[in-house]
Amino acid sequence: MKTKTDFLKMKETKEPIVMLTAYDFPSAKLAEAAGVDMILVGDSLGMVVLGYDSTIPVTVDDMIHHTKAVRRGAMNTFIVTDMPFMSYHLSKEDALRNAQRIMQQSGANAVKVEGADQVIDVIRALTQAGVPVVAHLGLTPQSVGVLGGYKVQGKDAESARKLLNDAKLCEQAGAIALVLECVPKQIAAEITKQLTIPTIGIGAGDEVDGQVLVYHDVLGYGVGRVPKFVKTYANVQEVIHNALISYVTEVKLRQFPESAHMFTMKEEEWVALYG
Ligand code: KIV
Ligand code: NA
Repeated sequence: MKTKTDFLKMKETKEPIVMLTAYDFPSAKLAEAAGVDMILVGDSLGMVVLGYDSTIPVTVDDMIHHTKAVRRGAMNTFIVTDMPFMSYHLSKEDALRNAQRIMQQSGANAVKVEGADQVIDVIRALTQAGVPVVAHLGLTPQSVGVLGGYKVQGKDAESARKLLNDAKLCEQAGAIALVLECVPKQIAAEITKQLTIPTIGIGAGDEVDGQVLVYHDVLGYGVGRVPKFVKTYANVQEVIHNALISYVTEVKLRQFPESAHMFTMKEEEWVALYG
């Protein structure tokens, strides 16, 4: 399994780091088989798997439940688990306790937290306690209500300056990597240059150290409209839809099951029974 040291080396040698989300056993198994460098059990779970309209309702228990399944599917891949909404804001003790539960119960290798400001102290406290932390700046979906929607962050000089400064604070506090979501490519490139730790972009251009996408977005699986930064590599939604329509139709028309799907008794046993 790759570690923090490998990810630092990948930045140095300019080998792109591939991160993908996964939420259950089969998605984790396929992610590992495809050779992703790290798996994110994102709290996007709330939207793409649980059907909520934001990440706000996701709980620590949800994250643990799904990370356990992901670990069973990807025994040899570095797993980052999102700390969900408000699980690291009430107090330092509460943040430590929630991170402890995630690390001890789920099989995660690191946790991810969104934002800077008071979260910088959380990154420092977790790191000092031995919990590897991935930071997440730019569009931070847990703050969607405060940001006023899912939109590009750091577009003007002032917010870009804060972004760069926050990125440095995350690194200084001990973050092992930084996710940059939905920011102009220039500021992501500048942050990538100025930091020692790897940056992993999602809607952050091509001059970052790695990329992350949501599993369901990559596959075209169960999601309607996808954001501009997504590339969809398949149309799994359509494959599933057509397969399910065929199943329903064949049962209605008595075309399924066919003899190949049936179990039969030997003729003499049948005769012995009813003959
Ligand atoms: O929850 C998630 O999937 C994420 C990625 C989009 C970075 O945080
Ligand atoms: Na997330």
